[in-house]
Amino acid sequence: MFREFLDLGRHPIANAFLTEKEFSDEFFFDLKVCWDDDSKLVSIKDFVEPERIFNSEYPYNTSNSFPMVAHFKSTAEMLKEEFKPKSVLEIGSNDGPFITNFDRDTSVCVEPCGNFSLKTAHKGYQSYTYFWTTELSEKIKHHHGTMDLIYAANCICHIHDLDDTFNAVDNILSDNGVFVFEDPSLLRILERGSYDQIYDEHPHIFSVTALNNVLKRNGLTLFRVDNLSVHGGSNRIYAARENTIDVEDSVLDNLMREKEFGVDNFQTYEIFADRVAESKKNLVGLLRKITDDGKRIMSIGATAKSTTVFNYCGIGKELIDVITDTTLDKQGKFSPGVHIPIMSREDINILDYDYAYLGAWNFKDVIANKEREFVENGGKFITHVPTVMEFS
Ligand code: TYD
Repeated sequence: MFREFLDLGRHPIANAFLTEKEFSDEFFFDLKVCWDDDSKLVSIKDFVEPERIFNSEYPYNTSNSFPMVAHFKSTAEMLKEEFKPKSVLEIGSNDGPFITNFDRDTSVCVEPCGNFSLKTAHKGYQSYTYFWTTELSEKIKHHHGTMDLIYAANCICHIHDLDDTFNAVDNILSDNGVFVFEDPSLLRILERGSYDQIYDEHPHIFSVTALNNVLKRNGLTLFRVDNLSVHGGSNRIYAARENTIDVEDSVLDNLMREKEFGVDNFQTYEIFADRVAESKKNLVGLLRKITDDGKRIMSIGATAKSTTVFNYCGIGKELIDVITDTTLDKQGKFSPGVHIPIMSREDINILDYDYAYLGAWNFKDVIANKEREFVENGGKFITHVPTVMEFS
């Protein structure tokens, strides 16, 4: 049985940065979150059709993010070293920062956003511009054989039908192959109150507890979990066919920690919902107080996360003048729903601002390091994670 615990109101597509001309046609949906008593899976109640989100206009270009490129390079090296795969498939390869660490002749990419799959194709990789399904896995198996390593980062939690997703993996995985995927950790979201990781692209938010259940019902065994710091706290999940590998201690450790926190108990989600409402009250209160005092606020990082915060809290241009972002495709556009202008960091003088809200709070240290001059001149940062606060 599905039980709703959080209603974040009407939301646009979190990464649909838009031009002024597009304001009148903007798509909105109800962002409600529920919990499944049986599998313990947390999901968005009303899914948005994937074609609306993942198409040739999708702006999130992974290679633009230096820390993520380094993360994928080291992940690829580690997996190569341990599993020595002779064939590799990446689901959701974006513009290729992971797969390009592997040999072109033995690698296959799947990426529904045509703008990105074209990039890996131009680099000589077999690239399929499709959504991941059992039908596609059959086609790839026919042309390229089974796969020793299947990898996906920030992608599996984007897919509505998890049973088909895991069935598709099972269909193409070689007998002793491994399936490795990483996605934001529900436990870290609950611990930190980072409700902003809930948006259209994440129809599911994974706990190890729920994944263990859903993988199992699809013939796969979860045998290892790595806790990662990326995206504000993610889990890297390792799965293999039943009875091909021993389950390691990290699985039990993670299941225990989640149980202790109450991930398998609906009351935990009701408490989280209260914390989210409190966060909204405090953030809006702080921003209003600052602007009432005649001070100016800008935001760093036009993130999908900040789309959730700004739309849920009703924060628009009257509170935040401008957002800066390093992604070329976002610059010159407006943030979804609340329409705050987005500019390149080089095009604003940060010293004109008294406060910088961290839309990309997950890169807090990188940003604080880059913006030392801002702080030396009295500038302060604002974040809502883990609680609403200002700091310098
Ligand atoms: P990300 O953390 O992946 O956020 P989300 O998944 O919520 O969209 O994206 C970080 C964004 O922040 C990305 O658009 C690049 C931008 N950014 C800056 O503008 N300045 C910075 O110093 C850093 C590290 C990121």
